[in-house]
Amino acid sequence: MRIVVLLGAPGAGKGTQAHVLAERLGLPRIATGDLFRAAVREGTPRGVEAQGYMERGALVPDEVTVAMLLERLALPDAAGGAILDGFPRTRAQAEALDAALHGRATGVEAALLIDVPVADLLARLSGRWLCAAAGHPYHETADAPRVAGVCDIDGSPLIQRDDDRPEVVRARLEKQLGALGDVVGHYRAAGLLQIVDGSRPIDDVTAALLEALGEPLAELPRS
Ligand code: AP5
Repeated sequence: MRIVVLLGAPGAGKGTQAHVLAERLGLPRIATGDLFRAAVREGTPRGVEAQGYMERGALVPDEVTVAMLLERLALPDAAGGAILDGFPRTRAQAEALDAALHGRATGVEAALLIDVPVADLLARLSGRWLCAAAGHPYHETADAPRVAGVCDIDGSPLIQRDDDRPEVVRARLEKQLGALGDVVGHYRAAGLLQIVDGSRPIDDVTAALLEALGEPLAELPRS
């Protein structure tokens, strides 16, 4: 089982890179943010609980988040592993993941921190567009779609996230960066942390992540 954890501040490029790595490594991308947004859309009890936290830019409580992630990780498509995008976000989540994987006689292969200066994150998030069908991310200047408003990959319309409004982005950064530091410390202590400069162009970041995983660089899906 191959579990790769992508770490980074809101807007660092986790989703962008997770889509590429998932395709490249043949693993599912599991994004807790996407799972929560689906739960909110469907109006499930978990979605109702998560919605207020997400609107305030706060982290959803660990108990809810860990249960959701472990349920998803137990589905058959993740039997060979997964790219985790946005989980773990707290030390307690990291420890819960370790314990669950230990129970399956495995562990996290690598924790890759996409490091981007905080000053760049607001511009990234306020210019972000996502495809309605699968969440493929674009940026209005750094990574524009070939046809404005349409996903290059699946042709679905591009939309903006409610929590990408500047006031919510500021709250996300204020409320979440401390916990990110704890998670980084957890994986550093375990000897699993690798840091990649996320301020470079998207394909360069992908290449650095693949190199960190010991993967060959040829045939990047986005090239
Ligand atoms: P979530 O959906 O995980 O949001 P996030 O972590 O804030 O991350 P983002 O999706 O905003 O950013 P990203 O790093 O994926 O960046 P992207 O690739 O899109 O979580 C949402 C909410 O759900 C949380 O606030 C919380 O409430 C809750 N939640 C989720 N998980 C949780 C958990 N584990 N515990 C508790 N609560 C949880 O890129 C951003 C933009 O930059 C795009 O426009 C992209 O095109 C552009 N870009 C990417 N790379 C580059 C580059 N190299 N150069 C220039 N532009 C780039």
